[in-house]
Amino acid sequence: MPKIFVTRRIPERGLDLLYTAFGKEAVTVAPQDNAITRSDLLAGVRGMDALLCILTERIDAELLDAAGPQLRIVANYAVGYNNIDVAAATARKIPVSNTPGVLTETTADLAWTLLVSAARRVTEGERYLRAGRWESWGPTLLMGQDIHGATLGIYGMGRIGQAMAERARGFQMRVIYTDVVRLPEERERELNVSYVDMTTLLKDSDFISIHCPLMPETTHAFSTKEFAAMKPTAVLVNSARGPVIDEPALAEALKQGQIFSAGLDVYEDEPTIHPDLLACENVVLLPHLGSASFETRSRMAEIAASNIVARLQGQTPPTCVNPEVL
Ligand code: DGY
Repeated sequence: MPKIFVTRRIPERGLDLLYTAFGKEAVTVAPQDNAITRSDLLAGVRGMDALLCILTERIDAELLDAAGPQLRIVANYAVGYNNIDVAAATARKIPVSNTPGVLTETTADLAWTLLVSAARRVTEGERYLRAGRWESWGPTLLMGQDIHGATLGIYGMGRIGQAMAERARGFQMRVIYTDVVRLPEERERELNVSYVDMTTLLKDSDFISIHCPLMPETTHAFSTKEFAAMKPTAVLVNSARGPVIDEPALAEALKQGQIFSAGLDVYEDEPTIHPDLLACENVVLLPHLGSASFETRSRMAEIAASNIVARLQGQTPPTCVNPEVL
């Protein structure tokens, strides 16, 4: 009987797949429902054949060695896998899988929620009302930025970036994007988007939404220089990975009115929020909820589990990110 370690309680549909394939006794779910400590993670993975982990857990050479040579797969419960040292896994011939596709639309929905909230000062307005400060309707009360007809700039035009662009149609927006890879012309026409360089994206966008993976090239892609190049009315949204933005620089730009507002779902050092950001009224802050709908989180659990089932039954894990090990 193989042994599977699940580092955090996940939706039942994923666990059921594992129970059906291998029996309940094969699966150890970490007992706590909060972040597992490094030492519990190192201890929990020892002697396991499969690891189902989440995006806040660092899966590196030390962890893989602690597991032992029988470890046959690391299944990440996320599409982003910057928490995993894939090269270290590949060197040990361990496949790593992620959960692409299923969270595209849900994450784009959340990015739009942030965009609308930051543009129209939704959370600021609610705080104001709940604090009992609303005395009357006011001609200049909590004015924000129009979304319809504005220019949306997308930084990173993968699956989620494209889903973001599709939603912009309803707001009659002009959509521009930048990425290392340009979309095929036919897809650009379908989405009604234009490829631009970073300088143009910063200069022309009323809204910028970040949808790139975290890599050395995208780390701090948005810092002092970029904020200075943006419109003072611009709104910045990040639902990708925190370190794409230099947080102290963003807080300064928000404070100085260099940009109008921001909407963030991800942070440089989750769950720590930079105190200067917490002090800003003009930023909407969410606790990494991009994929957090009932259905999507269940589908992510199913994909992560089905990668484990496939691997332990001698088949190809369907969403392996380092297939060269197979
Ligand atoms: C992911 O899957 O990478 C997301 O950040 C989870 O919401």
